[in-house]
Amino acid sequence: MTAFPPRTIRLDALAYGGDYNPDQWPEETWEEDARLMLEAGVNIVSLPVFSWPLIEKTPGHYDFGWLDRIIDLLWRHGIKVDLATATATPPAWLVRQHPDILPHNVDGVRLEFGSRQAYCPSSPVFREHALRLTEAMANRYGEHPALALWHISNEYGDHVPRCWCPTSAAHFRDWLAKRYGDIEALNEAWGTSCWGQNYTDYDHVEPPRTSMGPINPSQQLDFERFSSDALLQLFQAEIDVLRRITPDIAVTTNFMSLFKELNYWDFAAVEDLVTDDAYPDPADPQAHVPAALNYGLMRSLKGGQPWLLLEQAPSAVSWRDVNVPKVPGRMRLDSLQAIAHGSDGAMFFQWRQAKFGPEKYHSAMLGHRGEKSRSFHETAALGAELKRLAAVRGTRVRARVAVVADWDSWWGSAAPDSLPSQRLDWLEQTRAWHGALFALGHTVDVVQATDLREGYDLIVVPNLYIATEAQAQSLAAFVEGGGQLIVGPFSAVVDPTEKVHAGGAPGPLRDLLGVEVDEWWPLPDGQEGTITSIAGRTPTLTTRIWTEWIEPAPSAEVVARYDSGVLAGRAAIVRNARGRGAAWYVSAALSDDSLEDVLRLVLESAGLPARETADRDVEIVTRTDGETDFIFVLNHGQTATSVTVPAGALDLLTDVTASGPLDLPGLGAAVLATPARHPKDFPTVTISPKNIEV
Ligand code: GLA
Ligand code: GLA
Repeated sequence: MTAFPPRTIRLDALAYGGDYNPDQWPEETWEEDARLMLEAGVNIVSLPVFSWPLIEKTPGHYDFGWLDRIIDLLWRHGIKVDLATATATPPAWLVRQHPDILPHNVDGVRLEFGSRQAYCPSSPVFREHALRLTEAMANRYGEHPALALWHISNEYGDHVPRCWCPTSAAHFRDWLAKRYGDIEALNEAWGTSCWGQNYTDYDHVEPPRTSMGPINPSQQLDFERFSSDALLQLFQAEIDVLRRITPDIAVTTNFMSLFKELNYWDFAAVEDLVTDDAYPDPADPQAHVPAALNYGLMRSLKGGQPWLLLEQAPSAVSWRDVNVPKVPGRMRLDSLQAIAHGSDGAMFFQWRQAKFGPEKYHSAMLGHRGEKSRSFHETAALGAELKRLAAVRGTRVRARVAVVADWDSWWGSAAPDSLPSQRLDWLEQTRAWHGALFALGHTVDVVQATDLREGYDLIVVPNLYIATEAQAQSLAAFVEGGGQLIVGPFSAVVDPTEKVHAGGAPGPLRDLLGVEVDEWWPLPDGQEGTITSIAGRTPTLTTRIWTEWIEPAPSAEVVARYDSGVLAGRAAIVRNARGRGAAWYVSAALSDDSLEDVLRLVLESAGLPARETADRDVEIVTRTDGETDFIFVLNHGQTATSVTVPAGALDLLTDVTASGPLDLPGLGAAVLATPARHPKDFPTVTISPKNIEV
């Protein structure tokens, strides 16, 4: 048997499989499931995610019979399990015995049993019962050879990311008391002297419920942090149990892509393997672009280590208003995209399509028509194909550019009813900057401003509303060392307690960026503004939503000026040389094209190429082990294209060695193995315009 390093997934191939709910089916189907799984190349399944009520039918009595039988059956077929601790949803008896474990919404309404995740994250009763089950699961299956990975809970925060019940309120008060100590420190941090909110006792503090008017933004921000921490504590408590009993088995919980409610930097730090559930909308022809950003985050959460796509839909989901299926080939390409971006496998929700319940119209690897279903054919074809990519397992993704993602800034910049404009959306801005980098041909990592590892030439900060001295120092060190930094508008406005930095924005970044912001000038809905072209090189830039009245420092060079409206003639984009690098500040929310124009210039300063008007639907991502580069060429468009690739590169998917331009059909892909290049090199793949109709 293979010996696996401690706390790594116990699998020696790319993971392929999905969520499996055998308890929704008569046992007679299990043999067929295992047979078809093997036929499809499945080597791992996730179970029993929602089966707590079946394992513990009466309090304290665990019935593992059926679970033993299915795990043994799977293992007889060589299929491993990503074993859920089954704590994702409590049984009805527990909820009836202790109705106070049910969560409350912001209006104080108790959310009733009848869906899933029927628990308050802060409930000590829920935690006690969940940990008991976790312990029982670990004792039962810790030594089972099929156990590849622990899957804790499921999608923390999916349905209940925030709870306002009395238990949560008490937990919030404890959390605050630990953070601030004396109540006067809380008054100071929250600025309670505004609007007469001063507290004399922690007992008087409540979570920010529906109130008469705008909520204290500092209180709101702390509630966001607390709520993320409350689920993190639950996660940590389960991890502690598992570490005690099975110290060598890796643990994970499945993330939900760029999910606002949980600070995934914190969650990733305590687990062994990052896993993600990703559901790009097949109705959106550009869905692969935000997907690339999401995957950039997933591989970056643990500093570039491989991660795993734990769930995706084989075709349609069931939870959008309109659930469009994936056209033939889309599921394969989406899977290859995740692998290109560092996922060591591609998994699904779910194996066998449900017959009942809210997800009976959600696609599955084995559709309602069984092995005759289209999804099964595509599943089996991909399972066979992934075996050809065994060599990419464990390799790293090469990126020279990183985008900063800061949850505090995401939360703070979304404070309702108290911002200069409600239109400047953190996620939209982050996606827009990333989208421009994608269009210019770059694979982008996602980082924290305080943790800029070696090897980046350009750091892009779409928005850092809340900025600290530590972040400023880290960014300054990056620039001084020769990096290019570009910072978007409404950044470094407040400190971590939501207080405006002395002297205004961009507070701790003022010296680095060489600029002071005098006033925000958000644009009314529908109004656009223009900014002069940069050094005569590009068309006029356009801005919507947001502009600023800024005062450049004498050290800064004005790169572009507003040329319309009240700000006409004033600086819009400045560049401040510092050490061996430079910091750029963009004071407006630019249109997508304009972002590309600005980034082209910044990429040039960083010594990085920008691809020109090539086929924008083609994405190129390189994984490398230092000896071999694996260049993934992914045509996300429906139209065929032709790509010039390094001569002699071997396409692992076809075993054909490239000797000229590579023709890719719509939704086509190639994975080219070539000797590794110097990391500074851009993968030299050029794309010619589309020239073949599918
Ligand atoms: C009213 C209120 C003030 C202040 C202003 C803000 O005038 O009386 O306290 O909130 O609105 O415009
Ligand atoms: C998430 C959940 C699954 C399932 C799918 C449906 O990924 O983890 O249990 O509900 O969504 O898309």
